[in-house]
Amino acid sequence: MNAHSMAVAGAPVTHKGEVLLSVESISLRFGGVKAITDVSFDIRKGEVRAIIGPNGAGKTSMLNCINGFYHPQEGRITYKGVRRDKMRPHRAAAAGIARTFQNVALFKGMSTLDNIMTGRTLKMRKGFFWQALRHGPAMNEEIEHRKVVEDIIDFLQIQHIRKLPVGKLPYGLQKRVELGRALAMEPELLLLDEPMAGMNLEEKEDMCRFILDVNNQFGTTIALIEHDMGVVMDLSDRVVVLEYGRKIADGTPAEVKADQRVIDAYLGVAH
Ligand SMILES: Nc1ncnc2c1ncn2[C@@H]1O[C@H](COP(=O)(O)OP(=O)(O)O)[C@@H](O)[C@H]1O
Ligand SMILES: [Mg+2]
Repeated sequence: MNAHSMAVAGAPVTHKGEVLLSVESISLRFGGVKAITDVSFDIRKGEVRAIIGPNGAGKTSMLNCINGFYHPQEGRITYKGVRRDKMRPHRAAAAGIARTFQNVALFKGMSTLDNIMTGRTLKMRKGFFWQALRHGPAMNEEIEHRKVVEDIIDFLQIQHIRKLPVGKLPYGLQKRVELGRALAMEPELLLLDEPMAGMNLEEKEDMCRFILDVNNQFGTTIALIEHDMGVVMDLSDRVVVLEYGRKIADGTPAEVKADQRVIDAYLGVAH
């Protein structure tokens, strides 16, 4: 499948705008473990930016730095032109950065609908007082949020599971619900940590299509960690390659694929 040409058929690929986020010379250590060493790269508005590399390369740590979960000991992160210091995850979320996790992190006993609704929490303006009364402004607001959530459910084609507890769903659908929760935040930058891991081919193709649709229809900028090179080639505008916490390549999928250091890094690595 060439998901890219499929999803953008008829429409020119007009990505690569201004820099939305830049990471400059960041280093992150856990005691003696160097998770990231002196890495710089940027993410431009509207692009799909892949982060690849063998296990333990520092990919998840990088997303955790970008969304304020970890604080690198050295370097700078600039988002929308503003340099950030010790940004907390909820602040990153409020600033428009949403993410999904390598291992699905949903409320297993709650329905699809309610899980996606939790993504709206930050958008809820009325406090607990109004929420408790469940009338007037809070009631109107809740109706608005439900409408957004229902639209996301339609978009992701998960109407049939909207009332089901997510813990009972196949893994591929749980990943889709998690994407739905991130979309409910109406993010400007969406961070996806191995959104296709553990999926069969059909589920992967579905997820590829949804990611491209999000990018094309909503203009959402996407940073994506993925192991499947075919998926990376199909989806991304640019790829940054990490190995042992260092950046070893950065460029278009074709450039990166032909890079000898990248080929060497992947030799003998089973995925
Ligand atoms: N919270 C943590 N505490 C200690 N070490 C960590 C922590 N998070 C990541 N690491 C270490 O940092 C390195 C990079 O891990 P990670 O970012 O998860 O890699 P990847 O996602 O590329 O597989 C690994 O050696 C890992 O053990
Ligand atoms: Mg990881």
